[in-house]
Amino acid sequence: MKIVLIGFMGTGKTVVGKKLSDKLNMKFIDMDDEIEKLQKKSINDIFREYGEEYFRRLETNLLKELLHYEDVIISTGGGIVTSDENLKILKGENKVIFLDGNVETIQKNVSGEINKRPLLKESKNIPQTIETLLEKRYYKYNSVCDIKIDINDKNIQEVVSETLVSIG
Ligand code: S3P
Repeated sequence: MKIVLIGFMGTGKTVVGKKLSDKLNMKFIDMDDEIEKLQKKSINDIFREYGEEYFRRLETNLLKELLHYEDVIISTGGGIVTSDENLKILKGENKVIFLDGNVETIQKNVSGEINKRPLLKESKNIPQTIETLLEKRYYKYNSVCDIKIDINDKNIQEVVSETLVSIG
């Protein structure tokens, strides 16, 4: 089984993915961590030195590579749905799980780690930036997901339990 977690920044893809991997005894790969390891640079530095387009290409190449694995849980970056090529790839998978949070939840969750997010850290109005980006992406997350989990007002354990029930 292959599980791909998608959703906006701060929806818990990494932490939920790790917990699922413990419960299901499956390998876990976080795409941002993997890109940082491969490039030996932080996501911030990649964005700053080479730009977003370059990062998106790294992301697509890695996604294609990771989907060759069997029995893996993949946590994607929030912008994975910004590329049409990635959307096409994700549509071919059958356990794409969308962790769906609203602006308020996302803002609360990212508040301690804004500096790690190149698309948020320069913003003068974080909720507005989240809302604008989320509006552009929301229908894309919906269009490729097989399962949607509402994460609002839930703790990680509740999200993990609900996800486990949904994947059966
Ligand atoms: C991004 C989300 C980040 C990371 C990069 C770009 C985005 O991942 O890939 O900063 O475009 O939403 P997380 O969703 O893990 O924060």
